[in-house]
Amino acid sequence: MKNLIVANWKMNPASQKEAEDIFKGIKRGIKGATSEVVVCPPFVYLPLLSGLTLGAPASPSLGGQNVFFREGGAFTGGISAMMLKDLKVEYVIIGHSESRRYLKETDEIVNIKIKEALGAGLKIIFCIGETAEERDAGKKNEVLERQIKIGLAGIENWKLKIENLAIAYEPVWAIGTVNNCSVEETRQTIAFIKDCLARQNATAFVGQARVLYGGSVDSKNSGAYIKDAGANGLLVGGASLNAEEFVKIVKSAE
Ligand code: PGA
Repeated sequence: MKNLIVANWKMNPASQKEAEDIFKGIKRGIKGATSEVVVCPPFVYLPLLSGLTLGAPASPSLGGQNVFFREGGAFTGGISAMMLKDLKVEYVIIGHSESRRYLKETDEIVNIKIKEALGAGLKIIFCIGETAEERDAGKKNEVLERQIKIGLAGIENWKLKIENLAIAYEPVWAIGTVNNCSVEETRQTIAFIKDCLARQNATAFVGQARVLYGGSVDSKNSGAYIKDAGANGLLVGGASLNAEEFVKIVKSAE
């Protein structure tokens, strides 16, 4: 399966014009890349960028940064999985640590969102990761296992394709800093996550899902996560707002 390189623009950039420019720069730059590339802009830019996608591999595909956990109805501020599908969005990030922190999303909510989005035919980028305090207290593996167990509860028997689920390991302490996780620690953690996934259901697709790394990825450290740590892709925040830098990251994963 192809490596999955995801741009998470978070609450950036500030205008449609900038969003269009970055997207076009990425689209031009990744021509011929063998990885699968996904851009996750703020919701409001999706209609504009949807008009510029030609579908992979000619251009990046689109992802949402979150989704509401119901199909529709009286949920002020909500965006449903079907609305994203209608805009030719293929992927959605669920369980990002910023959504867990600022929107108070629990593992249980993350689980309902994953089910809702998979049911609507979206592919999932399911984020997990420990905080600095959890890591310092020696609870890293316990936290990751709990997030996986609850986040993926009840989806073992779904008839899903393996491409539909990617897990992004994003240690919270490594996000938006220069403090990226070492390649060796990432390698061990990815192996642990793969074990957890296999335990979740040894026979189904879940055990073989792609595992990505995210947290202060740039074009200098990106290649090592793929080549030495065994990541099947990357989730890139800050560095994905610069088309040239993001294209270098995509190329480093080839
Ligand atoms: P960062 O963000 O690359 O800016 O650390 C990654 C993420 O939060 O997805």
